[in-house]
Amino acid sequence: MTEDSGGPAGRRILITGGAGGVGTFLRTGLAGLGWTIRCLDLRIPDDPGDAEWVVGDVTDPSAVGAAMADVDVVIHLAGIPVEDHFAAILHANIDGTRHVFEAAVRAGVPRVLYASTNHVVGYYERSTFTNRRLGIDERTRPDTLYGVSKVVGEALGSYYHDRHGLEVACVRIGACLPEPRTRRMLDTWFSPADAVRLFHALASVPDLGYEIVYGVSANPTAWADLEPGRRLGYEPQDDSSVFAQRFLGRQGDPDDPEVRYLGGDFTTAVPG
Ligand SMILES: NC(=O)c1ccc[n+]([C@@H]2O[C@H](COP(=O)([O-])OP(=O)(O)OC[C@H]3O[C@@H](n4cnc5c(N)ncnc54)[C@H](O)[C@@H]3O)[C@@H](O)[C@H]2O)c1
Repeated sequence: MTEDSGGPAGRRILITGGAGGVGTFLRTGLAGLGWTIRCLDLRIPDDPGDAEWVVGDVTDPSAVGAAMADVDVVIHLAGIPVEDHFAAILHANIDGTRHVFEAAVRAGVPRVLYASTNHVVGYYERSTFTNRRLGIDERTRPDTLYGVSKVVGEALGSYYHDRHGLEVACVRIGACLPEPRTRRMLDTWFSPADAVRLFHALASVPDLGYEIVYGVSANPTAWADLEPGRRLGYEPQDDSSVFAQRFLGRQGDPDDPEVRYLGGDFTTAVPG
């Protein structure tokens, strides 16, 4: 993609948590679309690629502030991605997220794309969504303290948008993995290529405002409403049906949390 094609040449994305699983999919895929990538993480991975690397902690305002120089868009992924003790969640996911939004405003970075999760709605029952999709305007029902921290992150994004005019998209990521690992992930699978498509669309769309979208592929059994993302330019190309054969006959006990709830076994997760 070049400047002539209206692409992102010369535009820089800062990815916090760029060394992690989702970060690795995004930093490689978005670089391939012409974005200049800078990553802020606690560590530099074995495969750093062409990205600029800043080693630092998102809970350290000076490290986050320094990483924001000459950035056009922030993708904030860094934090704890599973259930943990509340003190750890509070520090990494809530304090860290506030520092990222605050530093973006101070540095004049116009847009932050925030990694939320499907676990903000994990306590909805799966059986409720046989004939309809779950919209982004229905109340949150977090299944973990981890999910609670992401509800707070979405609220922080709303506050920074309304108070400071920051453009914010909260992406409720499903299961962003090369392949679904469980029957439940057939519903929530977010292929790495679709993740790149969605984050590229959200980074590129001219006017963003404050948005919440589901980060899920076009899975036939998806319960999440993908229309909010589609309205912002997301065109998923993948779906989990090619993996469905693997899980045939594994419907499970309807009272098993993994079957009963959208959040599956996160509803029984304990710290660590
Ligand atoms: N992987 C998924 O399917 C999925 C699903 C829903 C939401 N998410 C969200 O996406 C984000 C990334 O998830 P992931 O699966 O890639 O996790 P991951 O654990 O693989 O990566 C997280 C990265 O963040 C870094 N990090 C952690 N704390 C940090 C801190 N205080 N300062 C700087 N860097 C820090 C880690 O070193 C790591 O490289 C998380 O916010 C997670 O909640 C992921």
